[in-house]
Amino acid sequence: MNAPVPPHRQFPAPPEAFAALDALMARGRAFLGARWALMGGAMSWVSERNLVAALSNAGAFGVIAGGSMEPARLEEEIAATQALTDKPFGVNLITLHPRLPELVRVCLAAKVSHIVFAGGIPPGGAIRLARDGGARVICFAPALVLARRLIRSGADALVIEGSEAGGHIGPVSLNVLAQEILPEIREVPVFVAGGIGRGEAILAYLEMGAAGAQLGTRFVCATESIAHPRFKRAFIRAAARDALPSVQLDPRFPVIPVRALQNEGTRRFVEHQAEVLRRFRAGELTKEAAQLEIEHFWAGALRRAVIEGDVEHGSLMAGQSVGMVTREQSAAAIIGELVGQAAHAVALRRGMIPT
Ligand SMILES: Cc1cc2nc3c(=O)[nH]c(=O)nc-3n(C[C@H](O)[C@H](O)[C@H](O)COP(=O)(O)O)c2cc1C
Repeated sequence: MNAPVPPHRQFPAPPEAFAALDALMARGRAFLGARWALMGGAMSWVSERNLVAALSNAGAFGVIAGGSMEPARLEEEIAATQALTDKPFGVNLITLHPRLPELVRVCLAAKVSHIVFAGGIPPGGAIRLARDGGARVICFAPALVLARRLIRSGADALVIEGSEAGGHIGPVSLNVLAQEILPEIREVPVFVAGGIGRGEAILAYLEMGAAGAQLGTRFVCATESIAHPRFKRAFIRAAARDALPSVQLDPRFPVIPVRALQNEGTRRFVEHQAEVLRRFRAGELTKEAAQLEIEHFWAGALRRAVIEGDVEHGSLMAGQSVGMVTREQSAAAIIGELVGQAAHAVALRRGMIPT
């Protein structure tokens, strides 16, 4: 026998609920130029033309992961995305890229409307270059002081990303970052990211003052995502507790914190560090050589998992929201679900439907 449907689920959100959601998202929607203030966070190898265009076509805002691309490759990816959508989308660039100014110029020449700088505080020159060229600049703010500094440097919007997120992470949860930053920063729109898997959570952050939300993990299993079927299957099977930060064995040899699903690769990484430490202690490796050996372990590992489907030894970067990924769905269906959940929650809270 099927479980009885809870009474509130029998009432879909009325139009007033969507109007209320529109009002809460107004600033983010205007900033992005999208139907919904929902960004598809750039994910290396996953966020390419197909997923980015699908998200933008579905009313969200796709972002190309340009981090590992050289200028000619980025130019090609932007053009291919523009061929698939006439809606706005962004390009995510890694601030440490040696050819950062060239990559910014590629975006500007292609009339990309929004540039997202990730992977550290961007040099002021890069922000100026992007803005002078007519693009809107989005930066990641890992703390309130840095949020203020980024706004002074010209950031048009900020993303605060909690440690629940997939990929490279900071130490603080979105729950705390949101309380520290949202009440303080009103000058620019602030988007929240990390661990978001349902519309009710998006609504809660909008009510706290967020302009919108950025999600990554939830979009990996979009039908349009080119991630390998084995990569998608690992996401569908995983629970929140499987997405853990990378382990560091010795503080003298820092490991960049990355949240990923545990597999043979993450287990071997611990053994690899132990072996490198043994060789360092035995005088077989200098400190610098040992650090490089540790850093090189994951080189190319995300591509191996996403593109080649090596889910045993590749990197399965995933956020804690992975437990809420239960099947493959079109980008439009995922967006529809998130928006529907948020509208339903508004309707319940404001007494538009019976509880
Ligand atoms: C597989 C994967 C790859 C990612 N790659 C990048 C990246 O290249 N650049 C970046 O700024 N963020 C990257 N992220 C972070 C996302 O853009 C986004 O902020 C994050 O996924 C949000 O948290 P969530 O996964 O809990 O939704 C990645 C995330 C995942 C899951």
